Amino acid sequence: MRPTQAPYPATRLRRTRATDAVRGLVRQNTLSVEDFIWPVFVRAGDGIEEPVPSMPGVSRRSVDKIVEAAREAADLGIRAICLFPYTGLEERTEDCAGAWDPENHANRAIRAIKAAVPDMAIMTDVALDTYNINGHDGFVVDGEIVNDRTVEALVKMALAQAEAGADIIGPSDMMDGRIGAIRHALEGAGHQNVMILSYAAKYASAFYGPFRDAVGASGALTGDKKTYQMDPANSDEALRLIERDLSEGADMVMVKPGLPYLDICRRVKDAFGAPTFAYQVSGEYAMVQAAAANGWIDNDRVMMESLMAFKRAGCDGILTYFAPAAARLLRDSGR
Ligand code: PBG
Repeated sequence: MRPTQAPYPATRLRRTRATDAVRGLVRQNTLSVEDFIWPVFVRAGDGIEEPVPSMPGVSRRSVDKIVEAAREAADLGIRAICLFPYTGLEERTEDCAGAWDPENHANRAIRAIKAAVPDMAIMTDVALDTYNINGHDGFVVDGEIVNDRTVEALVKMALAQAEAGADIIGPSDMMDGRIGAIRHALEGAGHQNVMILSYAAKYASAFYGPFRDAVGASGALTGDKKTYQMDPANSDEALRLIERDLSEGADMVMVKPGLPYLDICRRVKDAFGAPTFAYQVSGEYAMVQAAAANGWIDNDRVMMESLMAFKRAGCDGILTYFAPAAARLLRDSGR
């Protein structure tokens, strides 16, 4: 026990838990709608809102429907949205050229949201998996995911997104050297104010399963991502990755997945003090939804408790599929 704390009964820690008012006074962390980045899936077509079966409540939307969703999110106070393209097998190629096509679904969605909801911060995904015939985040040559050629493609992809009006570039590929290369290219192209939120400590996780369904990568993916995503057994390596990406020009960093990796969030925040985000990923979302659908847990309470856990662990913000539902709860409770 710390010397500043008198022994019982002078100290009774239950005193400051006795009423709602006092619990509010001593509460260390708060959750706000400003903490959220809402990940959404954009697909081809018009007027389409197609549910993702493994993520109840989540849909793939055509660009017009994404704009509607962005408007509704803004009305709920959500300030940032993150776009992921869904691509069918027929839209995928070995050269991944769709990734830097100014007219791909994601880039069209960026322009459409910017026109309709100009104050919404738009984040992107930089990785080849949604355009790659084999579902990998990088080019595959003789069975190897090659680094440097992939980085060249990622730079083109990021530039196309910045050109379309993206505010925050989100490299999720885990190649070496991509943050420096993207930062250099953005500076050179006059996009010096475009931010990079690096998926710096991204683990090779089974919690991404439902996401791969959502973006159409599940059927495409051959093998696993262990040669580029991190081993869940490691934590020092996460700090080296974060330090490396900050030194190359990342403005913000991310730990992913979220809840199973809160120890990493805390270490990262303590070590660097940089804007730190966690991604509460698809599998985390799906688990809560599934248990709640069975009546085994209370969806709303587990949702809010899990989001608060990120704040307690030192995160400045959270990418979460719960963003609209949590925003609604916060609004209705007057927060
Ligand atoms: C792909 C990417 C993934 C996620 C975000 N970007 C999946 C993967 O690496 O296989 C996962 C998000 C989630 O599970 O919600 N570059």
